[in-house]
Order: sequence, then structure tokens, then C-alpha cells
Amino acid sequence: MSTLAKASAATAPGAGPAAPFDVERVRRDFPILDQEIHHGKHLVYLDNAATSQKPQVVMDALGRYYGADNANVHRGVHRLSERATEAYEGARRRIRQFLNAGEDREIVFVRGTTEAINLVAHGWGRRFFKAGDRVVVSEMEHHSNIVPWQMLRDELGIELAVIPMDDEGQLELEGLEELLTARTKLVSVVHVSNALGTVNPVERIVQLAHARGVPVLLDGAQAVPHIGVDVRALDADFYVFSGHKLFGPTGIGVLYGKAERLEAMQPYQGGGDMIRSVTFEKTTYNVIPYKFEAGTPHISGAIALGEAIEWFRALDLAGVEAHERALLELATRKLREVPGVRIIGTAREKLGVVSFVMEGVHPHDIGTVLDLEGVAIRTGHHCAQPVMQHFKVPATARASFALYNTASEIDALVAALAKVREVFC
Ligand code: ALA
Repeated sequence: MSTLAKASAATAPGAGPAAPFDVERVRRDFPILDQEIHHGKHLVYLDNAATSQKPQVVMDALGRYYGADNANVHRGVHRLSERATEAYEGARRRIRQFLNAGEDREIVFVRGTTEAINLVAHGWGRRFFKAGDRVVVSEMEHHSNIVPWQMLRDELGIELAVIPMDDEGQLELEGLEELLTARTKLVSVVHVSNALGTVNPVERIVQLAHARGVPVLLDGAQAVPHIGVDVRALDADFYVFSGHKLFGPTGIGVLYGKAERLEAMQPYQGGGDMIRSVTFEKTTYNVIPYKFEAGTPHISGAIALGEAIEWFRALDLAGVEAHERALLELATRKLREVPGVRIIGTAREKLGVVSFVMEGVHPHDIGTVLDLEGVAIRTGHHCAQPVMQHFKVPATARASFALYNTASEIDALVAALAKVREVFC
């Protein structure tokens, strides 16, 4: 059974069998996909690693909340506030089930992956790290898993150590054990690389780190839209992701933390709802997760993310996984046949992303010509400049897939690349 199917069975007890995955039926849930983007050119959306599109149920949930239930949470005794609170806490429960976390209180709502990592850097790192301690990241991290630790390095004098990767875009784990010394206080690595699509052996990384008593944070932003994640099976101390890449709204994301880790952390922001009592002399903090949710949260976003997750979990997830793997294989094979194209990132285990360069054409020019053909991709360094430095390229063109993409959209990408060659080569 695949990872995804396993997680699906584990997280949806009692759920009836899902209908076999049917991409055309799923596409009907995404009205945005059915549009002409330039004269006669139908939209081909291949920028899903930047953000995914939203199914109708997510937009409906936002409308329903503002149209029928809008009120602040945890504060009112009135009916609307109770309904808003029930829906907000219901979303937390759905996320807990999705991740197979043990308790709802282990799910903290944040703005996204970036805020989640910053929260751990401040709440855990500032509290427990001291000069000379080490945080281990990898060479393929997004800037959001580099810069917060550099800020702590500059403030506290910690050291940032880096697991290197090879020229296929795979981590060289032989080096990790050497990096795990008595001074190592955290390993923080990406589950699936946004720039390369590499799926990292996170189970092994967690085992190695835990064998030395080192906690692990996993950045799951590019993993959760594609594979089921079971945080208890992984034994991750922290697992973070963004809602908007998982078919939910922007501005909402999740920090999962083991309860004892979250309990030990200090709050990041002070304010309403994160306190138990306040006097001018002394404040006592609320319990987790509320200790980390100061101020009015993104209530509608959390509720709509919960809807996105229910929508996703109701699909035939093994079918989704097979469909996405087939798309990636097809895209990889067809791009290799385009003269002058070189794929950046050829790891054995990949998901959702093909990054490439074309001889003699800047990636931004590729992106511009593709756009005129209706094909949306991302070009640039993908907020992962060390990856670009490793491969000695200033930028790449990146096509990234979601479950609603089709083989004919891969054909459209390849046909548009032929246009790029006509214009520039
Ligand atoms: N991190 C997002 C990406 O890879 C924005 O495009």
C-alpha cells in the first residue's frame, strides 16, 4: 500500500470507499481552470508549487462563514460566536485527523509555513539555544528554512550546518551523522523540495537525529498536497505546511508540534486569547495551542482549509498518487526530448515538480513565451538560491503539478516550448 493510501486509511476511519480517481470530474470542482487566458489560449496552470487552485467547496465555505456565521471566536456567549468557534475548532480537528496527530491541541494555526518556522525559531530556538549550538538544515531548503536560523545565529551565536546534496538533487545523508554532535539542537529539513521535487528520506533523518536526542522539524509545504503524511509514524517533533498549497486559502497554515514540545516553547506574540490572566505585574499564558494564537485569528481561512482537507480526503488518494506520478513521468520524458532542455533535479524519488533550463534562453523568457501560449509556470530562483548556486544556474523554469492536471496539459507545455525555440534558438 502506498504512503498516501496508508495515511488515507489511517486518517479516515469509517469513511466509505472513494470513487476511482477521475481527473475530469475533479476539474469540474475548480471553475478557475475553465478559462481562456489569451486569445484562443486555454489556461494550463502548472504553477501549483507556488499556490494551488481552490475547489468550489472552499470558496463556498468562505462565503458561508461570512454570510451566516461571522463572529469572533472564543470570546462571545452569543450563538454566532459559538458557531464560529465550533467551525474553527472543527477545522483544527480535521487537520489533526489529516496529519494523524494525537491531539487537537498539537495543531497551531499560523499564516503559513514561513510563520510556522519562525514561530519555532523564536519559541523553541530563542528559549533553548545558546552560543555554539548547532542547527542543521539542508542545501535544498527554501529561504524560509534558512533565514530564521541565520537571524538566530546573528542574535545568539549559534552555528548553521548544512547537509549537502549531490548533483541529482539528493541529500548526502552520510554527512548527517557527523553533523549530529552534542551541540546539535535541531534538524530542520524540507520533506519535498519546492525547487527540485526531491522527496527526502525524512523517516531516516528523524531516526538518525532522534538516536542522538535531537528534535526534528519537517517542512511539509510541498508534500501534503501530494502524499499522505502521518506525523506520528514519522515521529516528527514539528511538521509545518501552508493551506494555500493544499487547495485552501492564503494566509492560513499549520504548525504541528508534539504536545510536550509546544508546552516547552515560549509564545511568539503577546496579546488577546493567548493569556489566562493579565495584571500590570504579571501575565500567565493560556494552554497550547492558544498560547501561540494571539489576536483574532484567520477564522474563515482555518474553516475553509478544513473544508479543503475534507474535500481532498474524500478522493481516491491512491488514485491521486498514481495519476500524479504518471504526470511527472510523462513530463520528465517529454521534456528530455525537447532539444536544448536540461532537467535540474533528477532524484530517484520526486513529486510534483520539473525544473529545467533551456540552452541559450533565459528562464524568464521561457516563462513569458509560455504565458502567451496560456501555460503558467514559475521562473526564477524559487526562494531557494543555494539550490541555484549548487547547479550553477541563475534561475530555472519550473512546471509543477496538482491532481487536476492532465496529460494533454503536458502536451501543451511541450508544444509551447517548441514556440520558445522558434523565437529564441
Ligand atoms: N514557495 C513557493 C514556491 O515554491 C512560493 O513557488
